[in-house]
Amino acid sequence: MANKSKQRIAVAMVGEIKVGDRKMVNVDGKSIGIFNVNGEHVAVLNVCPHELAPVCRGRVTGTTLASVPGESLKWGREDEILVCPWHGWEFDLKTGDALADKRRLRTYPVTVEEGQVLIEV
Ligand code: FES
Repeated sequence: MANKSKQRIAVAMVGEIKVGDRKMVNVDGKSIGIFNVNGEHVAVLNVCPHELAPVCRGRVTGTTLASVPGESLKWGREDEILVCPWHGWEFDLKTGDALADKRRLRTYPVTVEEGQVLIEV
């Protein structure tokens, strides 16, 4: 069985992607979104686990927070949530987890070295 080793690829310069914004890159034929989540870079495969939409084209926003019955809803986690453009599923950009389902986004490890953002694929 072939053992495909991982490689680290420079995909952006630090400061290139503003908070709440993204940069799309193509690595080995895969479309990957690089997001700046409140200063932390994350890398997400541009495929929604629901029905395969280009999820990285979705809005980056916050979400309603868990609350107790009778309490008014509160908004939070601004710039941490990616909303799929097809059916509106919400995903936690830092973990890849869907907020209302067990499926998750495919994410890649990200490091910053010498002013560059690198992803491991
Ligand atoms: S394809 Fe993303 S929510 Fe349906």
